[in-house]
Amino acid sequence: MMTVRAPLIAEERKPGQFVILQLDDNFGERIPLTIADADPVEGSITLVFQTVGKTTHRLALLSEGDKIENLVGPLGQPTHIEKVGTVVCVGGGIGVAPLHPIAQGMKRAGNRVVIIIGARTKDLVILEDRMRAIADELIICTDDGSYGRKALVTAPLKELCERDPKPDMVVAIGPPIMMKFCAETTRPFGVPTVVSLNSIMIDGTGMCGGCRVTVGGQTKFTCVDGPEFDGHLVDFDNLMKRLGAYKKQEDMAHEKCHLEMEMEMEMEKRNLKLET
Ligand code: FAD
Ligand code: FES
Ligand code: MG
Repeated sequence: MMTVRAPLIAEERKPGQFVILQLDDNFGERIPLTIADADPVEGSITLVFQTVGKTTHRLALLSEGDKIENLVGPLGQPTHIEKVGTVVCVGGGIGVAPLHPIAQGMKRAGNRVVIIIGARTKDLVILEDRMRAIADELIICTDDGSYGRKALVTAPLKELCERDPKPDMVVAIGPPIMMKFCAETTRPFGVPTVVSLNSIMIDGTGMCGGCRVTVGGQTKFTCVDGPEFDGHLVDFDNLMKRLGAYKKQEDMAHEKCHLEMEMEMEMEKRNLKLET
């Protein structure tokens, strides 16, 4: 979790929106991260991210006082927040971070909010206290049963849909496979289900087409039309295929980044400077 000074973004942002950041000119990749929280008085935004590859790894190495070269936002369409009744918010893994401001917004709008947090194992359960403070009902599931219920998030979601009255709306954010199965779970019950897509982004302004997804047979750009869409209409298989498009290059970049860091540490130990 990182607090970043960005007064203009903190003032403007709404739940569901994200930023695109670029660490510095040498590490030119741009990555999107959700604005998990913001404090307009302090002029800061909160980012919560998982270190999965080169750029998130480099980001995690920043210390207090360091600078992010470029930070663009708020981007994307804000979540449509209104009073509908009971809203079930389902977060899988790091998806709990983008879910937090939405759950907060839904609660403030007067909804009854049920939150389901899912993670592979106990150590990967995040923002539990913040979510507990919002939820009327909080359900935690882990795949291995190390914390909460040993179940996938779809199990309690189905039980909630079977209740009378059933939920009025579901918001599911997490890995695409999780969102796909959440949408399949709610479909037979006819419960409107919003998902937040994490397609690969480059410019974030609707120009490159990198983030395109198919929704209801139409091409949409996640960065400007989304990131939220009707989960019952999203072509998840296409999304998952496109997300893996650069896997080989990403793995190579991550490995190279590790090697470079190990070398830097070794040089530091020997009190030598790395000439670049
Ligand atoms: P890499 O090894 O380069 O990539 C790992 C995987 O991340 C890839 O296989 C691909 O699926 C995805 N990815 C890579 N590059 C991009 C890119 N430019 N845009 C989108 N996905 C990419 N993650 C969080 O941990 N916290 C968040 O709050 C968060 N919010 C997001 C909001 C949006 C709107 C989107 C689209 C993605 C969000 N992500 C979030 C995912 C995050 O952007 C990726 O984990 C990150 O880009 C990985 O970069 P990397 O170089 O560390 O890893
Ligand atoms: Fe380029 Fe969306 S990121 S069009
Ligand atoms: Mg990367």
